[in-house]
Amino acid sequence: MQTKIWDLSKNIDSSKAETAIKEIAEIYKKGGLVAIPTETVYGLGANAKDDAAVKKIYEAKGRPSDNPLIVHIYEAAQMDDFIAEIPEKAQRLMNVFWPGPISFILPLKEGYLCERVSGGLSSIAVRMPSHPVGRVILKETRLPIAAPSANLSGRPSPTTFDHVFYDLNGKVDGIVNGDQSEEGLESTVLDCTQYPFRIARPGAITVEMIEQVIPGSVDTTTILNTEKPIAPGMKYKHYSPDTPVMMLTDLNTVITPDKDWENTLFAVPASLKHYVPKTAIYRELSVDELDLKNANHNLYQILHELDTETNIEQGYIFKFPENDESQAFLNRLAKATGNQEIGAAQL
Ligand code: TXA
Ligand code: MG
Repeated sequence: MQTKIWDLSKNIDSSKAETAIKEIAEIYKKGGLVAIPTETVYGLGANAKDDAAVKKIYEAKGRPSDNPLIVHIYEAAQMDDFIAEIPEKAQRLMNVFWPGPISFILPLKEGYLCERVSGGLSSIAVRMPSHPVGRVILKETRLPIAAPSANLSGRPSPTTFDHVFYDLNGKVDGIVNGDQSEEGLESTVLDCTQYPFRIARPGAITVEMIEQVIPGSVDTTTILNTEKPIAPGMKYKHYSPDTPVMMLTDLNTVITPDKDWENTLFAVPASLKHYVPKTAIYRELSVDELDLKNANHNLYQILHELDTETNIEQGYIFKFPENDESQAFLNRLAKATGNQEIGAAQL
C-alpha cells in the first residue's frame, strides 16, 4: 500500500493545508486509516462507526482484538450519540481538562459505534485532544475517530512523524506530520464506570490534579491493569525497544569510567550528567530531577533512538524518584525495561 504523507507542521491556515484536511476527512469517511498528531502521542485514526475500518487498525498494529480503543471527538455534543450517561463528576473534569491529555471510560450507548471498537465491553474510552492539527481534522470529519497510538503493538508510542513512518509506512493510507508531541506520553485514562473513579493508566493529568477538582473521588489504592498480556511472560514488556534497556537507580557517584562505554546510551537529567562516563552516549532526559514535563516529552524519542541509531547496543535511563508527578513516567519506563533496574554503583 502506498502511504500518503501530508506536512501540516508549519502552517494549517494555508489553502494547501485546507485541501489536505479535506482529503484526510474523505479517507476517514471511506473507511481508511490516517495517523494524526495529538499533544500526547500520534494516533492511528479510523471511523469508529465503521467495523471494517476499525478492523484494519488492529491489523496494521498487530494489536490483540480484546484491547479496546479510545474514541476521539472534536466537541462534547458528539458523545450524545454513543455515551449512555456522563457522571456529574466526570463532566466537571471534562470542563477543566478538555481539550487535553485525559480519556474517560464511560458507559456505552449501544448501536452507534461498531462493536469492535470497545472490544465487546459495555464501556468506551473518550478523549478530546488539544493539538491544533488533530483538532482541525476532527472538526472537518465530525466523525468519532478511534485512535490508538500509531505504533506497532508492543513498541514505544510515536511522538514524531518519523516514529510513525518507521512503524507504519506501507501499512496505512496516510500519515500527517505535525511536529513532536508536546506531552510525549499517552493520556491519563480514568475509569468513570464505577465510583470512586479509578486510574486505568497514569498520564499527564495526575491524581492530585484530578483530586483538586473532585476531592476524594478517586480510588488511589489500585491502578487498574487494563493491558492484557500478549503472551505468557510478556506481561510487563510493552512500549519497549528491541535494544536492551534498564532503569538506572542511585546515580550519586561517578560510573566506572575505565570500561568500554562507547555503544552505551545514558539518558539522565542534565544536573547529573557529570556522573556519566565521558566515552558513553549521553542524552538529556530533563533539566533536573524535578523536571518531569521534559522527561515525559523526551522518553519515547530516546526509546526510539535506542533502535534506530545503529551504534547503540544498550541503554540506561534514569529512574526518577516516585511521586504523584512521576507516576506516568515510571509506569512507561517499567514497561519499556521489563521492570529491570540496576544501581549506578553496580555498573
Ligand atoms: O494519548 C492517548 O490516549 C493516545 C492518543 C492517540 O490519543 N491513544 C492511546 O490509545 O494511547 P491506546 O489504544 O494505545 O490506549 C488505550 C488504552 C488501553 O490501555 C486500553 O486498554 C484502555 O485505554 N481502554 C480503552 N477503552 C477501555 C475500556 N472500555 N475499559 C478499559 N480500558 C479501556
Ligand atoms: Mg498504545
